Amino acid sequence: MSRRNENWRKSMSLRIDYNNMMSKYVGNEQGFDDNIFVKNKNNIESAYSQVANSRGKGMMGWTELPYNQNYVVEDILQTAKNIRKKFDNFVVLGIGGSALGPIAVFQALCHLRHNELPKSKRKAPKLFIEDNVDPERMQALFDVIDLDRTVFNVITKSGATSETMAQYLIIMNLLKQKYGDKASEHMIATTSSGSGSLIKIAKIEGLKTFYIPDGVGGRFSELCPVGLLPAAVVGIDIKELLAGAKYMDKLCLNKNVRKNPALLSALLQVLAMRNGKNISVMMPYADSLKYVADWYCQLWGESLGKAIDNNGDYVYTGQTPVKALGVTDQHSQMQLYREGPFDKVITIIGVDNYRTDIEISKGCEDISDVNFLCGHTLSELMKTERMSAEYALTIAKRQNYTIHLPEVNAFTIGELLYMFEMQTAYAGAMLNIDAYNQPGVEGGKNATYAIFGKKGYEQTKKQMDNAPNKDSNYIC
Ligand code: PA5
Repeated sequence: MSRRNENWRKSMSLRIDYNNMMSKYVGNEQGFDDNIFVKNKNNIESAYSQVANSRGKGMMGWTELPYNQNYVVEDILQTAKNIRKKFDNFVVLGIGGSALGPIAVFQALCHLRHNELPKSKRKAPKLFIEDNVDPERMQALFDVIDLDRTVFNVITKSGATSETMAQYLIIMNLLKQKYGDKASEHMIATTSSGSGSLIKIAKIEGLKTFYIPDGVGGRFSELCPVGLLPAAVVGIDIKELLAGAKYMDKLCLNKNVRKNPALLSALLQVLAMRNGKNISVMMPYADSLKYVADWYCQLWGESLGKAIDNNGDYVYTGQTPVKALGVTDQHSQMQLYREGPFDKVITIIGVDNYRTDIEISKGCEDISDVNFLCGHTLSELMKTERMSAEYALTIAKRQNYTIHLPEVNAFTIGELLYMFEMQTAYAGAMLNIDAYNQPGVEGGKNATYAIFGKKGYEQTKKQMDNAPNKDSNYIC
């Protein structure tokens, strides 16, 4: 079946199995009854309309990304082609939303050991995503890249984030020392067109620049040049990523909560939260999706963790996201999930068809404790362990639901990421909070600016200087 064919796309629809959220399976005390859709009709309808009415406006510019990027996609593809010809390493400098999406998509859609593959097999530059300012990490990067064969992509929406700009300054200095006027050939900027310092610097330095559209916040930016350029450089089909997002967007236009995966998932999470389940565990059963869980943690935590609601009342809301990996964490955190407090809802991501499989070899016929594995495959073992985990959680009355991906490919990853973004938008509406601001994150950024003496942060510095000094009695 052709990949662009409508039937193929339908066959790639993700499915949500929420049986184990219901009282029939986890009991009346923990589970939901069939009335949830009727009982929460007003909340569901109002969240749906709020999101529908805000699409493409204000900070919901991200809903347009599957539709309005034809021109920029061509530019990205051409740039990526040129990079692949000239360079062996592509290094992203960014943090938070400017790094987690690129990391998630790289891990999901490239060879799991992409950077370790020999060049002849890799067929694309190595990708490094540097989302910290640990000096040891930066030194380690310098030890493995050849500057002559490296291009950097500095990504910051605000154009001012200390960590990213510090990295930029160090690297640009190195490039200038080595290449003089030609330094700019090794640096690409991705930033907002109308604000921040990076755009000014990019103009002065003559950097190739991609723009983060207005209305696309950091954690909602994976499907714009922030994520699309790194993905295209390593050979990911970015048109398919966007096609998957568009397919999901259409599903999310459905008013019927049972047919709108993001609205349904938001409802399940918000109701669980109202029942005291303040922890949202994201547990994919695939190494390729490990960092999708990381990306989700930022999206969910930073969007919903808010002190004040839209009426200005203190609500201190949010659900703590936790990442886990199946099956690895069945041998660690699962103990807590099954027997600890009833404060978690567990989202499992299952994969129907892994992209490869390996048979478990025979050779232990006389030892039945091991022999039972022989002749099966690793994908069978993964799927069986996932089903066993679902069963074990369910009989322990732990609410869980499973998002099934038919397989991991650019289309399904586009669907999945976009679904989580929409789910976040609906949950924000249900909680009556602004899912797009991040005063808590800004607070940390501003304190750093103040300590380093950045102009405009004198007041913050004064407040910090007036804070009580550390008491040595409390340091042991
Ligand atoms: O989601 C967000 O807005 C944040 O996590 C940002 O992505 C993060 O703080 C980095 O900001 P910037 O892209 O402006 O450097």
